[in-house]
Amino acid sequence: MSATLSPVRVRHFVSLADLSPDELERLMADAAELKRAPVPPEAPLRGRSIAMIFEKPSLRTRLSFEMAMVQLGGHASYLSPAEVGLGRRESVADVARVTSRYVDGIVLRTFAHETTEEFARSSAVPVINGLSDVSHPCQGLADVFTVRERKGAAPDVAVAYVGDGNNVCHSLMLGVALAGQTIRIANPLGYEPQPTYRAKTMEIARRTGATVEIGSDPADAVRDADVVYTDVWTSMGQEQEYERRRRAFQGYQVNAELLRLAKHDAIVMHDLPAHRGEEITDDVIDGPQSAVFDQAENRLHAQKALVRWLLGGPR
Ligand code: CP
Ligand code: NVA
Repeated sequence: MSATLSPVRVRHFVSLADLSPDELERLMADAAELKRAPVPPEAPLRGRSIAMIFEKPSLRTRLSFEMAMVQLGGHASYLSPAEVGLGRRESVADVARVTSRYVDGIVLRTFAHETTEEFARSSAVPVINGLSDVSHPCQGLADVFTVRERKGAAPDVAVAYVGDGNNVCHSLMLGVALAGQTIRIANPLGYEPQPTYRAKTMEIARRTGATVEIGSDPADAVRDADVVYTDVWTSMGQEQEYERRRRAFQGYQVNAELLRLAKHDAIVMHDLPAHRGEEITDDVIDGPQSAVFDQAENRLHAQKALVRWLLGGPR
């Protein structure tokens, strides 16, 4: 914990683009080790704590970070959307300054990504992005881990993402690019990934040798893929666009017919929560190719590696 009010150099995890390929490799190895031995006897985060400040609901992110801290010997405190009033009851910068006097790390879930960036600029302790409107790097980390666990690390392992070019899509494309693998994305017109995320993904892919293809045809993306990934058509905060989106995404459902185009042993991924019957059918999410609940479990292992790395150093 720091006693300074001035911006300090702290290692945050706001985007997967904050990681080098080597750092990603190390986190993947650490996550695998922590999955094999979940409660390290040396309690690497003994006496350390995180605050979790959320503007949106959560099941996986909240619970997996809380359990990550418990299993590593530390503690997590959750502050619900009603409690903090980021930028309303108190300025974002002041909440960051105060919170970082009490804890060793902060997980933030915000609407505007700029809120997380602004918070990180004033925080004296590492800030972890637990989802913003445009980014979900903790999900991306667990997703790369799941792909690697189930399909290996070869460059030609192909991940097809079908649906909205949203926060999950952005982090998945950055993650697969960092891992040097292959990502093929299909979105309806008007729902493509944002230009800055495309540019960053391409820049990373040039360094790692990853293959990135972005188009509009789900069949082109899924054909011969090793992984078929989808996410909700209407994300948190977009509820008023539900009808328009439901119409725009017709033809982008991951169902048995689409899945038949992938490799016979392809796995299906979804970050959850799912809107069953919209972006994915029951028979696919509950079927033999679904890796969805292993993927959800892997949030815990990947985030344990992350918090041990960011918070586990000498005080
Ligand atoms: N996948 C995910 O982040 O789930 P929650 O919104 O429940 O945290
Ligand atoms: N795209 C979804 C992800 C939820 C984990 C949302 O933002 O609601």
